[in-house]
Amino acid sequence: MLSRAVVLKIASWKFVERLVRHSRLCRKVVKRFIAGDTLDEAMAAAEDLCSRGYFVTLDLLGEAVTSAEEAAKAKDAYIGMFDRIAASRCLKSPVPTSNGRTRHPSPFEFGSRELPVETANVSIKLTQCGLGLDDGLAEKHYREVAQVALEYGSFLRIDMEDSSFTQRTVDMVDRVHKDIERTGTVLQSYLHRTSEDVEWVIRNNMRVRLVKGAYLEPPQVAIQKMPEIDAALLAQGKRLLDAGNYPAMGTHNEGLLSQLAAYAAEKGIPKDRWEIQMIYGIRRDLQEKYLSEGYNVRIYIPFGDSWYPYFSRRLAERPANMFFIFKALLRR
Ligand code: FDA
Repeated sequence: MLSRAVVLKIASWKFVERLVRHSRLCRKVVKRFIAGDTLDEAMAAAEDLCSRGYFVTLDLLGEAVTSAEEAAKAKDAYIGMFDRIAASRCLKSPVPTSNGRTRHPSPFEFGSRELPVETANVSIKLTQCGLGLDDGLAEKHYREVAQVALEYGSFLRIDMEDSSFTQRTVDMVDRVHKDIERTGTVLQSYLHRTSEDVEWVIRNNMRVRLVKGAYLEPPQVAIQKMPEIDAALLAQGKRLLDAGNYPAMGTHNEGLLSQLAAYAAEKGIPKDRWEIQMIYGIRRDLQEKYLSEGYNVRIYIPFGDSWYPYFSRRLAERPANMFFIFKALLRR
């Protein structure tokens, strides 16, 4: 059986990337995980999901930029995503504002649900804003996008990248959140530091998405064994259910989700006080199950033409996915 590390290694070889990018058959596998190359395609998927009762998060694929121009372009694209969301059918009853923008109704009207939870929001990566190239510039872009999220009554989440960026991401989110509350981040259960970071988000009343973690990290930094990562996510998830601000559990793990849902029910935590997040194209059966049981289920919709690193991580999470790629390449 291929390990995660081996899959990531194979995927990093340039000739494999070229083969995958240019094979029409591989494209079919790629399409399973990526809503399309354009915002139009992502919005079509988002509107369809929202019409069925899901919440959505848009994610423009791309990682570390190499110039200030690229960072500015990414920032403009993020703002454009909020503009498109506001003009879309994802908003149930848009409210006009004095600056000409429409915004999400707040407090949110969803039957008896009283939380101001937006149907559609955006997740971004700080390296795409310039983190690692010019951290000051990255923060400036982040603040600008977060301000737009605030004006729309929406929410801007900062995805968590590899551990070389964790502390800088935490520090930057901490600073921006103090000024603009409609922003939050992601914590990765596999990192040894995460239980402390859970307390940080709780102290700051910040919304967070809890996930296992998708990058290859050394043992000094991260737990390596899957059962131990599961145990960490379960303990941190329970802590967030008890004391967090509308926490999100980002996992497709059936066992973990059922234990978290059972814990919430046992503690009398209403279903609309937290949400379940899953990735577009993964475990649709589980997405439907939780939606039909009345949970808030948010689907993370990746799109854009810089899909290769994201796609590699999805392959590595489930090495069986590699066999679809090998099959497609052999039939080329
Ligand atoms: P687990 O690995 O326990 O798998 C459970 C089941 O899910 C599998 O048996 C399989 O059926 C299915 N499954 C899982 N992954 C699959 C795949 N790739 N293909 C097909 N089936 C699959 N990570 C990170 O480091 N930073 C981040 O910001 C984010 N953001 C994020 C957002 C959202 C909404 C989600 C759901 C996840 C992330 N992640 C992430 C990724 C996360 O860290 C983790 O790598 C994956 O979610 C896989 O772990 P699970 O707990 O979902 O499932």
